[in-house]
Amino acid sequence: MTEAILLVGGQGTRLRPLTITTPKPLLPVAGVPVTVHQIERARDAGVTRIVLGTSYRAEVFAERLGDGRDLGVEIAYAVEDEPLGTGGAIRHAAALLTCGPGDPVMVLNGDVLSGVDYGALLAGHVASGAALTLHLTRVDDPTAYGLVPTDGEGRVLAFREKPQTPEEIVTDQINAGCYVFTRSVIDEIPAGRPVSVEREVFPRLLERGVLVRGVVDDAYWLDLGTPWDFVRGSCDLVRGVAPWSGHAAAESLLLEGAQVDDAALVGGGTAVGRSARVIGDAVVQGSVLLDGCTVEPGARVVGSVVGEGARVCSGASVVDSVIGDGAVVGPGNELRHGARVWPGVELPPTSVRFSSD
Ligand code: GTP
Repeated sequence: MTEAILLVGGQGTRLRPLTITTPKPLLPVAGVPVTVHQIERARDAGVTRIVLGTSYRAEVFAERLGDGRDLGVEIAYAVEDEPLGTGGAIRHAAALLTCGPGDPVMVLNGDVLSGVDYGALLAGHVASGAALTLHLTRVDDPTAYGLVPTDGEGRVLAFREKPQTPEEIVTDQINAGCYVFTRSVIDEIPAGRPVSVEREVFPRLLERGVLVRGVVDDAYWLDLGTPWDFVRGSCDLVRGVAPWSGHAAAESLLLEGAQVDDAALVGGGTAVGRSARVIGDAVVQGSVLLDGCTVEPGARVVGSVVGEGARVCSGASVVDSVIGDGAVVGPGNELRHGARVWPGVELPPTSVRFSSD
């Protein structure tokens, strides 16, 4: 039996207001919760049992995922009374693992879409005898991430969290939020208090001189932390840019009961949620329409998320914006540049307008 821990307890503040109602890992990318994409990939790599480390809105996970039977894995839930941070959550969840001290345990951040070969990571970890193996990915601008330089043999040399100066940018390799720990290493993490895996656990391992490996690859990778990356991840799955078995690449994905009128233009990888409606000549490009929302004739939605049951009225334009669940964008409004409408808010006709471009 191979076990994994999935970290799903974060508050997802950057994704508000979407995460007010639904925890980030359960938000649907291409109609399927991020967590489910990860569980399916882990299962296909041989993982049979998964402990979900929950905190924020913990109860929703068990309601949605149950005991994991429908997904072909066994799921157990470790609920933190107070958020314990990434390292504390791993330590807390480990109480529900059944494997022995020398066995590998895969640990995944619950908000990452990735094409990395989990099976190869697990096998490479076991063969190397390392204490910890990290998946690393390369990004153009590493300043918002934790940098992880390695030597020619893939041995991790340092951990640099979110570099502030150009001198600190020593590599373009970043921590991709996917690890394989040898179980005994998890049991050494301090229990019962918040611990950061990036700032505390990883640096301590290097100080002790144990083998910490970094595996760099060019597989698809996206952190879904912001609304814009969330939209991109969903569109990438629909369009086949991100790997997803069981779905053929297309310009749009219509979920059960979705209605798109003949005159409407829907593309760019847009996912149209269950029972959502795109009416008349509405245009929706590169967006996520959540369940039960409505885009009325003459409305335009580009690069945006429209929340569950929300309504974009005739002639309204929503570009690079987030519309919360149940909100109404009245006729003639123009939302752009990262605008966020909170759940249930109703914008009166033409109350928001951008005229500069
Ligand atoms: P932001 O608030 O927008 O930064 O998002 P976040 O709360 O998800 O934080 P972040 O993206 O840094 O978290 C990385 C991963 O760790 C996510 O999958 C979170 O769900 C998870 N995580 C973060 N903090 C905790 C925690 O205290 N407990 C548990 N169980 N998971 C956590």
